[in-house]
Amino acid sequence: MKYGNQSLVVVANRLPVDRCEGSWSPSPGGLVSAVAPMVKESRGAWIGWCGTSDEEFEPFEFDGMHLVPIALGSDEYDKYYEGFSNATLWPLYHDLVVPPQFHRSWWKTYLSTNARFAQAAVDAAAHEATIWIHDFHLQLVPEMIRAQRPDVRIGFFNHIPFPSESIFAQLPWRDSILRGLLGADVIGFQLDSDVENFRSAVSRFLGISSEELPNTVRAYPISIDADAIHRVAEAEETQHRARQMREELDDPRCLIVGVDRLDYTKGILHRLRAYHELLEDGVLDPQETTFVQVAVPSREGLESYQDLRDEVEQLVGNINGSFGAMDRAAVHYFHHSYSFESTVALYLAADVLLVTSLRDGMNLVAKEYVAARHDSGALVLSEFAGAAAELDEALLVNPHDIAGLKDAIRLGAEMPPAEAQRRMASMAEVVDGHDIHRWARAFLDDLRPMPPTRAPTTAE
Ligand code: F6P
Repeated sequence: MKYGNQSLVVVANRLPVDRCEGSWSPSPGGLVSAVAPMVKESRGAWIGWCGTSDEEFEPFEFDGMHLVPIALGSDEYDKYYEGFSNATLWPLYHDLVVPPQFHRSWWKTYLSTNARFAQAAVDAAAHEATIWIHDFHLQLVPEMIRAQRPDVRIGFFNHIPFPSESIFAQLPWRDSILRGLLGADVIGFQLDSDVENFRSAVSRFLGISSEELPNTVRAYPISIDADAIHRVAEAEETQHRARQMREELDDPRCLIVGVDRLDYTKGILHRLRAYHELLEDGVLDPQETTFVQVAVPSREGLESYQDLRDEVEQLVGNINGSFGAMDRAAVHYFHHSYSFESTVALYLAADVLLVTSLRDGMNLVAKEYVAARHDSGALVLSEFAGAAAELDEALLVNPHDIAGLKDAIRLGAEMPPAEAQRRMASMAEVVDGHDIHRWARAFLDDLRPMPPTRAPTTAE
Protein backbone atom coordinates (compact mmCIF):
# COMPACT_ATOMS: atom_id res chain seq x y z
CA MET A 1 0.00 0.00 0.00
CA LYS A 2 1.28 3.48 -0.92
CA TYR A 3 0.71 6.09 1.82
CA GLY A 4 0.64 9.87 1.64
CA ASN A 5 2.59 11.94 4.14
CA GLN A 6 -0.06 13.97 6.00
CA SER A 7 -0.84 12.99 9.59
CA LEU A 8 -3.95 15.20 9.78
CA VAL A 9 -6.24 15.55 6.78
CA VAL A 10 -9.35 17.73 6.83
CA VAL A 11 -11.94 17.13 4.12
CA ALA A 12 -14.65 19.75 3.62
CA ASN A 13 -16.73 20.93 0.71
CA ARG A 14 -14.83 24.20 0.59
CA LEU A 15 -11.14 25.01 1.04
CA PRO A 16 -10.30 27.48 3.83
CA VAL A 17 -9.37 30.04 1.16
CA ASP A 18 -11.23 31.95 -1.52
CA ARG A 19 -9.98 32.69 -5.01
CA CYS A 20 -10.24 36.39 -5.65
CA GLU A 21 -8.75 38.29 -8.60
CA GLY A 22 -6.14 35.65 -9.28
CA SER A 23 -4.93 35.06 -5.71
CA TRP A 24 -5.97 33.16 -2.59
CA SER A 25 -7.13 34.79 0.62
CA PRO A 26 -8.36 33.16 3.86
CA SER A 27 -12.11 32.67 3.80
CA PRO A 28 -14.09 33.94 6.77
CA GLY A 29 -16.25 31.64 8.84
CA GLY A 30 -16.40 29.45 11.88
CA LEU A 31 -15.11 26.21 10.44
CA VAL A 32 -11.96 27.83 9.15
CA SER A 33 -11.14 29.64 12.39
CA ALA A 34 -11.74 26.41 14.34
CA VAL A 35 -9.98 23.86 12.27
CA ALA A 36 -7.24 25.77 10.41
CA PRO A 37 -5.07 26.30 13.55
CA MET A 38 -5.07 22.54 14.18
CA VAL A 39 -4.13 21.84 10.57
CA LYS A 40 -1.32 24.43 10.73
CA GLU A 41 -0.01 23.04 14.02
CA SER A 42 0.41 19.57 12.58
CA ARG A 43 1.35 20.88 9.13
CA GLY A 44 -1.62 18.94 7.84
CA ALA A 45 -3.68 18.98 4.66
CA TRP A 46 -7.10 20.38 3.76
CA ILE A 47 -9.01 18.94 0.84
CA GLY A 48 -11.86 20.97 -0.59
CA TRP A 49 -13.49 22.63 -3.56
CA CYS A 50 -11.88 25.86 -4.70
CA GLY A 51 -15.25 27.63 -5.03
CA THR A 52 -15.41 28.13 -8.80
CA SER A 53 -16.54 25.62 -11.39
CA ASP A 54 -14.49 24.35 -14.33
CA GLU A 55 -11.18 25.67 -12.92
CA GLU A 56 -8.37 23.32 -11.92
CA PHE A 57 -5.60 24.14 -9.46
CA GLU A 58 -2.59 22.12 -8.32
CA PRO A 59 -2.13 21.47 -4.57
CA PHE A 60 -0.32 24.35 -2.88
CA GLU A 61 1.00 25.50 0.48
CA PHE A 62 -0.88 28.30 2.25
CA ASP A 63 -0.11 29.67 5.68
CA GLY A 64 1.34 26.39 6.95
CA MET A 65 -1.35 24.18 5.40
CA HIS A 66 -1.14 21.86 2.41
CA LEU A 67 -4.24 22.67 0.36
CA VAL A 68 -5.61 20.20 -2.16
CA PRO A 69 -8.19 21.82 -4.44
CA ILE A 70 -10.91 19.60 -5.86
CA ALA A 71 -12.17 20.97 -9.16
CA LEU A 72 -15.89 20.67 -9.80
CA GLY A 73 -17.00 20.57 -13.42
CA SER A 74 -20.17 22.49 -14.22
CA ASP A 75 -22.17 19.23 -14.23
CA GLU A 76 -20.85 18.38 -10.75
CA TYR A 77 -21.55 21.90 -9.58
CA ASP A 78 -25.15 21.58 -10.78
CA LYS A 79 -25.83 18.06 -9.52
CA TYR A 80 -23.55 17.50 -6.52
CA TYR A 81 -23.46 21.04 -5.02
CA GLU A 82 -26.61 22.87 -6.10
CA GLY A 83 -28.63 19.70 -6.67
CA PHE A 84 -28.14 16.89 -4.19
CA SER A 85 -26.41 18.93 -1.45
CA ASN A 86 -28.50 22.08 -1.53
CA ALA A 87 -31.82 21.11 -3.10
CA THR A 88 -32.17 17.55 -1.72
CA LEU A 89 -30.25 17.26 1.57
CA TRP A 90 -30.40 20.88 2.76
CA PRO A 91 -34.23 21.17 2.82
CA LEU A 92 -34.63 17.55 3.98
CA TYR A 93 -32.27 18.10 6.92
CA HIS A 94 -33.97 21.41 7.77
CA ASP A 95 -37.39 19.89 8.35
CA LEU A 96 -38.76 20.43 4.83
CA VAL A 97 -38.88 24.25 4.99
CA VAL A 98 -39.13 23.90 1.21
CA PRO A 99 -39.85 20.56 -0.51
CA PRO A 100 -36.68 18.55 -1.19
CA GLN A 101 -36.15 17.34 -4.74
CA PHE A 102 -35.13 13.77 -5.43
CA HIS A 103 -33.31 13.06 -8.69
CA ARG A 104 -31.39 9.89 -9.46
CA SER A 105 -28.89 11.74 -11.65
CA TRP A 106 -28.07 14.10 -8.75
CA TRP A 107 -27.49 11.10 -6.47
CA LYS A 108 -25.19 9.49 -9.04
CA THR A 109 -23.08 12.65 -9.18
CA TYR A 110 -23.09 12.97 -5.36
CA LEU A 111 -21.66 9.43 -5.27
CA SER A 112 -18.97 10.06 -7.86
CA THR A 113 -18.00 13.46 -6.40
CA ASN A 114 -17.78 12.01 -2.88
CA ALA A 115 -15.52 9.31 -4.36
CA ARG A 116 -13.18 12.01 -5.72
CA PHE A 117 -12.93 13.74 -2.34
CA ALA A 118 -12.35 10.34 -0.69
CA GLN A 119 -9.60 9.41 -3.13
CA ALA A 120 -7.81 12.71 -2.52
CA ALA A 121 -7.91 11.99 1.24
CA VAL A 122 -6.65 8.44 0.75
CA ASP A 123 -3.75 9.74 -1.36
CA ALA A 124 -2.80 12.45 1.15
CA ALA A 125 -3.09 10.46 4.40
CA ALA A 126 0.01 9.04 6.05
CA HIS A 127 -0.07 5.60 7.67
CA GLU A 128 -2.45 5.76 10.66
CA ALA A 129 -3.32 9.37 9.91
CA THR A 130 -6.35 11.18 11.32
CA ILE A 131 -8.93 12.23 8.74
CA TRP A 132 -11.67 14.67 9.73
CA ILE A 133 -14.56 15.03 7.29
CA HIS A 134 -17.05 17.88 7.53
CA ASP A 135 -20.69 18.28 6.69
CA PHE A 136 -23.58 16.96 4.69
CA HIS A 137 -21.95 17.34 1.29
CA LEU A 138 -19.59 14.46 2.06
CA GLN A 139 -21.55 11.84 3.96
CA LEU A 140 -20.34 8.94 1.81
CA VAL A 141 -16.67 9.82 2.21
CA PRO A 142 -16.08 8.02 5.56
CA GLU A 143 -17.08 4.62 4.19
CA MET A 144 -15.25 5.22 0.91
CA ILE A 145 -12.01 5.99 2.73
CA ARG A 146 -12.48 3.12 5.16
CA ALA A 147 -12.82 0.64 2.28
CA GLN A 148 -9.28 1.50 1.16
CA ARG A 149 -7.59 2.49 4.40
CA PRO A 150 -8.27 0.36 7.46
CA ASP A 151 -5.25 1.98 9.16
CA VAL A 152 -6.60 5.55 9.48
CA ARG A 153 -8.81 7.15 12.13
CA ILE A 154 -11.85 8.80 10.56
CA GLY A 155 -14.06 11.48 12.08
CA PHE A 156 -17.18 13.03 10.61
CA PHE A 157 -18.91 16.15 11.90
CA ASN A 158 -22.30 17.28 10.62
CA HIS A 159 -22.71 21.06 10.87
CA ILE A 160 -26.44 21.05 10.12
CA PRO A 161 -29.29 19.22 11.90
CA PHE A 162 -29.86 15.52 11.37
CA PRO A 163 -33.58 15.09 10.64
CA SER A 164 -36.05 12.96 12.52
CA GLU A 165 -36.38 9.38 11.37
CA SER A 166 -39.76 10.03 9.73
CA ILE A 167 -38.38 12.87 7.57
CA PHE A 168 -35.13 11.06 6.78
CA ALA A 169 -37.32 8.14 5.64
CA GLN A 170 -38.20 10.12 2.49
CA LEU A 171 -34.66 9.92 1.14
CA PRO A 172 -34.51 7.16 -1.49
CA TRP A 173 -30.80 6.63 -0.71
CA ARG A 174 -31.14 6.72 3.09
CA ASP A 175 -29.43 3.36 3.71
CA SER A 176 -26.37 4.34 1.67
CA ILE A 177 -26.04 7.64 3.51
CA LEU A 178 -26.18 5.89 6.88
CA ARG A 179 -23.63 3.28 5.82
CA GLY A 180 -21.45 6.07 4.46
CA LEU A 181 -21.44 7.83 7.84
CA LEU A 182 -20.83 4.61 9.76
CA GLY A 183 -17.44 4.37 8.06
CA ALA A 184 -16.27 6.98 10.60
CA ASP A 185 -14.91 6.06 14.05
CA VAL A 186 -16.38 9.23 15.56
CA ILE A 187 -19.61 10.72 14.21
CA GLY A 188 -20.36 14.13 15.66
CA PHE A 189 -23.54 16.18 15.61
CA GLN A 190 -24.49 19.58 17.04
CA LEU A 191 -27.11 18.43 19.55
CA ASP A 192 -28.20 15.38 21.51
CA SER A 193 -31.45 15.44 19.51
CA ASP A 194 -29.45 15.02 16.27
CA VAL A 195 -27.62 12.07 17.83
CA GLU A 196 -30.96 10.52 18.78
CA ASN A 197 -32.34 11.06 15.28
CA PHE A 198 -29.28 9.42 13.74
CA ARG A 199 -29.41 6.46 16.11
CA SER A 200 -33.11 5.90 15.40
CA ALA A 201 -32.51 6.02 11.65
CA VAL A 202 -29.65 3.51 11.91
CA SER A 203 -31.81 1.24 14.01
CA ARG A 204 -34.85 1.46 11.73
CA PHE A 205 -33.19 1.38 8.31
CA LEU A 206 -30.08 -0.72 8.95
CA GLY A 207 -31.40 -2.78 11.84
CA ILE A 208 -28.40 -1.86 14.04
CA SER A 209 -29.30 -0.92 17.59
CA SER A 210 -27.40 1.78 19.51
CA GLU A 211 -25.80 -0.89 21.73
CA GLU A 212 -24.45 -2.69 18.67
CA LEU A 213 -22.87 0.42 17.10
CA PRO A 214 -19.06 0.27 17.38
CA ASN A 215 -18.75 3.99 16.51
CA THR A 216 -18.63 6.88 18.94
CA VAL A 217 -21.71 8.99 18.19
CA ARG A 218 -21.86 12.19 20.23
CA ALA A 219 -22.96 15.81 20.28
CA TYR A 220 -20.22 18.44 20.00
CA PRO A 221 -22.05 21.82 19.89
CA ILE A 222 -19.92 24.06 17.70
CA SER A 223 -18.95 27.53 18.83
CA ILE A 224 -17.02 30.62 17.81
CA ASP A 225 -13.57 32.09 18.31
CA ALA A 226 -14.69 34.20 21.27
CA ASP A 227 -11.25 35.78 21.77
CA ALA A 228 -11.14 36.95 18.17
CA ILE A 229 -14.55 38.60 18.62
CA HIS A 230 -13.46 40.22 21.91
CA ARG A 231 -10.32 41.61 20.28
CA VAL A 232 -12.29 43.17 17.43
CA ALA A 233 -15.13 44.36 19.69
CA GLU A 234 -12.70 46.06 22.08
CA ALA A 235 -10.74 47.82 19.32
CA GLU A 236 -11.28 51.59 19.31
CA GLU A 237 -11.73 51.45 15.53
CA THR A 238 -14.65 49.03 15.82
CA GLN A 239 -16.31 51.04 18.57
CA HIS A 240 -15.90 54.18 16.52
CA ARG A 241 -17.46 52.41 13.51
CA ALA A 242 -20.38 51.27 15.70
CA ARG A 243 -21.04 54.85 16.88
CA GLN A 244 -20.76 56.04 13.30
CA MET A 245 -23.29 53.42 12.14
CA ARG A 246 -25.79 54.64 14.68
CA GLU A 247 -25.22 58.25 13.67
CA GLU A 248 -25.66 57.38 10.00
CA LEU A 249 -28.99 55.82 10.96
CA ASP A 250 -30.00 59.06 12.68
CA ASP A 251 -29.33 57.69 16.15
CA PRO A 252 -32.56 55.70 16.65
CA ARG A 253 -33.77 55.02 20.17
CA CYS A 254 -33.88 51.33 19.23
CA LEU A 255 -31.79 49.67 16.54
CA ILE A 256 -32.94 46.18 15.62
CA VAL A 257 -30.54 44.06 13.56
CA GLY A 258 -30.55 40.78 11.63
CA VAL A 259 -27.46 39.24 10.04
CA ASP A 260 -27.94 36.08 7.99
CA ARG A 261 -27.15 34.30 4.79
CA LEU A 262 -30.18 34.88 2.59
CA ASP A 263 -31.55 31.39 3.25
CA TYR A 264 -35.13 30.22 3.69
CA THR A 265 -34.14 28.43 6.91
CA LYS A 266 -33.38 31.74 8.63
CA GLY A 267 -36.94 33.00 9.04
CA ILE A 268 -36.19 36.46 7.60
CA LEU A 269 -39.74 36.86 6.26
CA HIS A 270 -41.19 35.93 9.66
CA ARG A 271 -39.22 38.62 11.47
CA LEU A 272 -40.04 41.23 8.83
CA ARG A 273 -43.75 40.41 9.17
CA ALA A 274 -43.55 40.73 12.94
CA TYR A 275 -41.72 44.05 12.68
CA HIS A 276 -44.21 45.31 10.09
CA GLU A 277 -47.14 44.49 12.40
CA LEU A 278 -45.43 46.16 15.37
CA LEU A 279 -45.19 49.35 13.30
CA GLU A 280 -48.80 48.98 12.12
CA ASP A 281 -50.00 48.42 15.70
CA GLY A 282 -48.15 51.53 16.85
CA VAL A 283 -46.14 49.49 19.35
CA LEU A 284 -42.92 50.55 17.65
CA ASP A 285 -42.58 54.10 16.42
CA PRO A 286 -40.81 54.37 13.04
CA GLN A 287 -39.41 57.75 14.11
CA GLU A 288 -37.56 56.05 16.95
CA THR A 289 -36.91 52.52 15.67
CA THR A 290 -34.80 51.28 12.78
CA PHE A 291 -34.30 47.78 11.49
CA VAL A 292 -31.10 46.80 9.64
CA GLN A 293 -31.17 43.48 7.83
CA VAL A 294 -27.94 42.17 6.32
CA ALA A 295 -28.76 39.33 3.94
CA VAL A 296 -25.58 37.78 2.60
CA PRO A 297 -26.07 36.40 -0.95
CA SER A 298 -26.08 32.61 -0.99
CA ARG A 299 -26.71 29.78 -3.48
CA GLU A 300 -28.07 32.27 -5.95
CA GLY A 301 -28.46 29.74 -8.75
CA LEU A 302 -31.28 27.96 -6.93
CA GLU A 303 -34.87 28.95 -7.58
CA SER A 304 -35.92 28.66 -3.94
CA TYR A 305 -33.25 31.22 -2.99
CA GLN A 306 -34.24 33.53 -5.86
CA ASP A 307 -37.90 33.30 -4.79
CA LEU A 308 -36.95 34.11 -1.21
CA ARG A 309 -34.97 37.13 -2.33
CA ASP A 310 -37.96 38.41 -4.29
CA GLU A 311 -40.29 37.95 -1.32
CA VAL A 312 -37.92 39.57 1.17
CA GLU A 313 -37.31 42.54 -1.11
CA GLN A 314 -41.01 42.97 -1.76
CA LEU A 315 -41.78 42.97 1.95
CA VAL A 316 -38.95 45.41 2.70
CA GLY A 317 -40.42 47.62 -0.03
CA ASN A 318 -43.90 47.37 1.52
CA ILE A 319 -42.64 48.27 4.97
CA ASN A 320 -40.62 51.22 3.70
CA GLY A 321 -43.51 52.30 1.48
CA SER A 322 -45.78 52.50 4.50
CA PHE A 323 -43.42 53.66 7.23
CA GLY A 324 -40.38 55.27 5.59
CA ALA A 325 -39.91 59.00 5.16
CA MET A 326 -37.73 61.24 2.98
CA ASP A 327 -34.98 61.24 5.57
CA ARG A 328 -35.26 57.73 6.99
CA ALA A 329 -36.06 54.13 6.09
CA ALA A 330 -37.97 51.81 8.39
CA VAL A 331 -35.85 48.90 7.14
CA HIS A 332 -32.31 49.17 5.82
CA TYR A 333 -31.71 46.07 3.74
CA PHE A 334 -28.30 45.06 2.41
CA HIS A 335 -27.87 42.20 0.01
CA HIS A 336 -24.12 41.84 0.25
CA SER A 337 -21.60 40.49 2.71
CA TYR A 338 -19.98 42.56 5.42
CA SER A 339 -16.40 42.18 6.65
CA PHE A 340 -15.91 40.50 10.02
CA GLU A 341 -14.95 43.87 11.55
CA SER A 342 -18.03 45.65 10.18
CA THR A 343 -20.27 42.82 11.35
CA VAL A 344 -18.88 43.09 14.87
CA ALA A 345 -19.38 46.88 14.73
CA LEU A 346 -23.00 46.27 13.73
CA TYR A 347 -23.40 43.91 16.71
CA LEU A 348 -22.10 46.70 18.95
CA ALA A 349 -24.47 49.20 17.39
CA ALA A 350 -27.55 46.97 17.76
CA ASP A 351 -29.94 47.18 20.70
CA VAL A 352 -31.75 44.01 19.69
CA LEU A 353 -30.46 41.16 17.51
CA LEU A 354 -33.01 38.89 15.83
CA VAL A 355 -32.22 35.24 15.10
CA THR A 356 -35.48 33.69 13.96
CA SER A 357 -34.37 30.48 12.21
CA LEU A 358 -37.07 27.99 11.29
CA ARG A 359 -34.38 25.32 11.69
CA ASP A 360 -30.67 25.81 12.26
CA GLY A 361 -27.88 23.41 13.26
CA MET A 362 -26.38 25.95 15.68
CA ASN A 363 -26.43 29.60 14.46
CA LEU A 364 -23.13 31.25 15.18
CA VAL A 365 -24.47 34.79 14.69
CA ALA A 366 -26.27 34.44 18.03
CA LYS A 367 -23.05 33.39 19.76
CA GLU A 368 -21.02 36.13 18.05
CA TYR A 369 -23.48 38.78 19.22
CA VAL A 370 -23.24 37.52 22.80
CA ALA A 371 -19.43 37.48 22.69
CA ALA A 372 -19.30 40.97 21.18
CA ARG A 373 -21.75 42.51 23.68
CA HIS A 374 -20.88 40.66 26.86
CA ASP A 375 -23.08 42.77 29.14
CA SER A 376 -25.67 44.69 27.12
CA GLY A 377 -28.13 44.28 24.26
CA ALA A 378 -31.04 41.90 23.83
CA LEU A 379 -31.07 38.67 21.85
CA VAL A 380 -34.29 37.31 20.36
CA LEU A 381 -33.50 33.69 19.52
CA SER A 382 -35.50 30.98 17.81
CA GLU A 383 -36.03 27.84 19.81
CA PHE A 384 -35.34 25.98 16.54
CA ALA A 385 -31.72 27.14 16.41
CA GLY A 386 -29.22 24.78 18.05
CA ALA A 387 -27.81 27.74 20.01
CA ALA A 388 -31.06 27.94 22.02
CA ALA A 389 -29.98 24.84 23.98
CA GLU A 390 -27.09 26.84 25.48
CA LEU A 391 -28.36 30.44 25.33
CA ASP A 392 -31.41 30.02 27.51
CA GLU A 393 -31.25 33.62 28.80
CA ALA A 394 -32.16 34.88 25.32
CA LEU A 395 -35.76 35.83 24.54
CA LEU A 396 -36.66 32.45 23.09
CA VAL A 397 -39.32 32.41 20.38
CA ASN A 398 -41.20 30.14 18.02
CA PRO A 399 -40.83 32.18 14.81
CA HIS A 400 -44.02 30.67 13.36
CA ASP A 401 -45.93 32.31 16.22
CA ILE A 402 -45.99 35.88 14.93
CA ALA A 403 -47.79 37.16 18.03
CA GLY A 404 -45.11 35.59 20.26
CA LEU A 405 -42.36 36.94 18.03
CA LYS A 406 -43.85 40.44 18.25
CA ASP A 407 -43.94 40.19 22.04
CA ALA A 408 -40.30 39.13 22.14
CA ILE A 409 -39.18 41.97 19.85
CA ARG A 410 -41.12 44.45 22.00
CA LEU A 411 -39.60 43.02 25.18
CA GLY A 412 -36.14 43.24 23.62
CA ALA A 413 -36.73 46.85 22.55
CA GLU A 414 -37.94 47.80 26.04
CA MET A 415 -35.57 45.66 28.12
CA PRO A 416 -34.24 47.53 31.16
CA PRO A 417 -30.41 47.80 31.03
CA ALA A 418 -29.97 45.86 34.29
CA GLU A 419 -31.92 42.91 32.93
CA ALA A 420 -30.08 43.04 29.60
CA GLN A 421 -26.81 43.04 31.49
CA ARG A 422 -27.76 40.05 33.66
CA ARG A 423 -28.99 37.97 30.72
CA MET A 424 -26.10 38.82 28.44
CA ALA A 425 -23.42 38.26 31.07
CA SER A 426 -24.82 34.83 31.84
CA MET A 427 -24.86 33.89 28.13
CA ALA A 428 -21.36 35.31 27.61
CA GLU A 429 -20.07 33.00 30.32
CA VAL A 430 -21.46 30.03 28.38
CA VAL A 431 -19.98 31.19 25.06
CA ASP A 432 -16.56 32.11 26.50
CA GLY A 433 -16.34 28.80 28.34
CA HIS A 434 -17.15 26.72 25.25
CA ASP A 435 -15.32 28.36 22.40
CA ILE A 436 -14.40 26.90 19.05
CA HIS A 437 -10.98 25.70 20.18
CA ARG A 438 -12.54 23.65 22.93
CA TRP A 439 -14.98 22.20 20.38
CA ALA A 440 -12.21 21.13 17.99
CA ARG A 441 -10.09 19.68 20.82
CA ALA A 442 -13.04 17.69 22.21
CA PHE A 443 -13.68 16.11 18.81
CA LEU A 444 -10.05 15.32 18.07
CA ASP A 445 -9.43 13.99 21.60
CA ASP A 446 -12.21 11.48 21.04
CA LEU A 447 -10.96 10.63 17.58
CA ARG A 448 -7.25 10.26 18.06
CA PRO A 449 -6.88 7.42 20.57
CA MET A 450 -9.49 5.17 18.99
CA PRO A 451 -8.72 2.03 17.02
CA PRO A 452 -10.14 2.18 13.48
CA THR A 453 -13.67 0.84 13.06
CA ARG A 454 -14.05 -2.30 10.97
CA ALA A 455 -15.06 -1.54 7.35
CA PRO A 456 -18.85 -1.70 6.93
CA THR A 457 -20.55 -3.06 3.81
CA THR A 458 -20.12 -1.10 0.57
CA ALA A 459 -22.50 1.59 -0.68
CA GLU A 460 -25.19 0.64 -3.18
O1 F6P B 1 -23.67 25.41 7.67
C1 F6P B 1 -23.72 24.69 6.53
C2 F6P B 1 -22.96 25.31 5.38
O2 F6P B 1 -22.94 24.47 4.28
C3 F6P B 1 -21.55 25.67 5.74
O3 F6P B 1 -20.68 24.59 5.55
C4 F6P B 1 -21.29 26.82 4.84
O4 F6P B 1 -20.37 27.70 5.38
C5 F6P B 1 -22.64 27.52 4.73
O5 F6P B 1 -23.59 26.52 4.96
C6 F6P B 1 -22.78 28.24 3.41
O6 F6P B 1 -23.02 27.34 2.38
P1 F6P B 1 -22.31 27.27 0.98
O7 F6P B 1 -21.00 26.57 1.18
O8 F6P B 1 -23.27 26.48 0.16
O9 F6P B 1 -22.12 28.66 0.49
